[in-house]
Amino acid sequence: MNFELKTLSLASAAKTSTDTLIVLISEQFEAGKDPLSVLISKATQAKDFSNKTGKTLQAYGLAGVSAAKIILVGIGEGKPSDVKTGLTGAMATLKAAETSKAAVVFAGSVTSAQLHAAVLAVADSTYVYGTTHSKPKLRKLTQVTLGVQSATGALKEAFTSSVAMVEGIEFAKEWANRPANHATPTMLGKAAQGLAKTAGISCEVLGPKEVAKLGMGSFMSVAKGSAEPLRFIVLKYQGGAKTEAPVVLVGKGITFDTGGISLKPAPEMDEMKFDMGGAASVLGVFKSLSLLKPKLNVVGLIPACENMPDGLAVKPGDVVTSMSGQTIEILNTDAEGRLILCDALTYAGRFKPDTVIDIATLTGAVIGALGKVTAGLLSNDDQLAEDLLASGTKSGDRAWRMPLWEEYDELLKSNFADMANIGGPQAGTITAACFLARFAKKYKWAHLDVAGTAWVSGAQKGATGRPVPILMEYIRSKAK
Ligand code: BES
Ligand code: MN
Ligand code: ZN
Repeated sequence: MNFELKTLSLASAAKTSTDTLIVLISEQFEAGKDPLSVLISKATQAKDFSNKTGKTLQAYGLAGVSAAKIILVGIGEGKPSDVKTGLTGAMATLKAAETSKAAVVFAGSVTSAQLHAAVLAVADSTYVYGTTHSKPKLRKLTQVTLGVQSATGALKEAFTSSVAMVEGIEFAKEWANRPANHATPTMLGKAAQGLAKTAGISCEVLGPKEVAKLGMGSFMSVAKGSAEPLRFIVLKYQGGAKTEAPVVLVGKGITFDTGGISLKPAPEMDEMKFDMGGAASVLGVFKSLSLLKPKLNVVGLIPACENMPDGLAVKPGDVVTSMSGQTIEILNTDAEGRLILCDALTYAGRFKPDTVIDIATLTGAVIGALGKVTAGLLSNDDQLAEDLLASGTKSGDRAWRMPLWEEYDELLKSNFADMANIGGPQAGTITAACFLARFAKKYKWAHLDVAGTAWVSGAQKGATGRPVPILMEYIRSKAK
């Protein structure tokens, strides 16, 4: 998608040559004498349109307006969520039409947050997955001009970072959407290496031999049941001084989760191709970093493998030794995400990190707790948690904090190892995070459980690109 930011009043927007002109109208709007203002006033008087969020009105061939089609969109108070709702509705009306160029114009003043919401909403509602259709599906709308009162300063900055963010979101979506046979651990490794072609980014991909040498016994135990060899991906972005401690992102890269010997039921099992959503978001962040080039250092770690049932697969009751030396009794082979992440978290210590954030489609329980609206956030550091919550609110990709108390950690007791890999039927998201916390004691760490937010099910089934926005916003605010 090609985005462009322009200074446009309603009068100049009318003269802009484009296929479709979308006008966002909030409660604060004051009509002028230009043709669009007249249309808005007349349609409002006739009660065919109002500035309530989500109201739309379409008009064609209006005198004095260059665009063939006009869509008026109400955005109510003009909250970022109103912009998103309004634009998503308007974009849906374009789907059937052959619109390749559109302009989105704010009638009245614009904030950075509104502009950010507009860029993300336009991209989100026009993205098309096209990797595995016989005739590649293409996005119709490819050129979007955003019209604001004054395309300078903070708005220009917000525009640039939002566009970089969109590229990352779409990269994450694309990889998460690919079926497991088109997104194997090896292929994820290649994708990461592809990102390293940009200046500032380097990549190293480790295979089974190297991982064995590192002593990642927990990670290896998950991969054992699969014919696909595991990969451990190390991405580095250097935007700050060499000596500066990096932010380390760790993404769960289970390219398919059958549950292993503790096999999952058949319905919706296809959706477990999205179980590398955390990994995809790390790739997406690096895509964004390559475009935005913020002044700080970021490391991305992705343990990638399949979780399959097999003669060689790890069995319930097996005890494995993690890279940290701690032993784990695997009571349920379907709690595999934590088993690959714990070794990556130990590896993260090597970078003497400023902060470590892991991202994982870790538990079904987080959907029970928070639904599909917000990610679960758990952290051993209050400031980090606060910063992430703020980044979530600002980027429109929210998280909600849950506790990591001792009473929960105790549920991981095992009679045969230092810990079990499950904590029982209650508080599944918290006990999973308590497990990870045992491997993240040496640094400030946060965990995002994105099992509810990384993809949507049903007719609109597909990856969302979350949590690229919250991560990029966090990185951007830290780089300032
Ligand atoms: N990848 C799943 C989590 C998941 C389940 C995400 C459903 C989205 C929808 C994870 O590996 C898993 O299977 N977790 C188990 C843990 C349990 C065995 C303690 C779960 O949530 O059921
Ligand atoms: Mn699982
Ligand atoms: Zn999983």
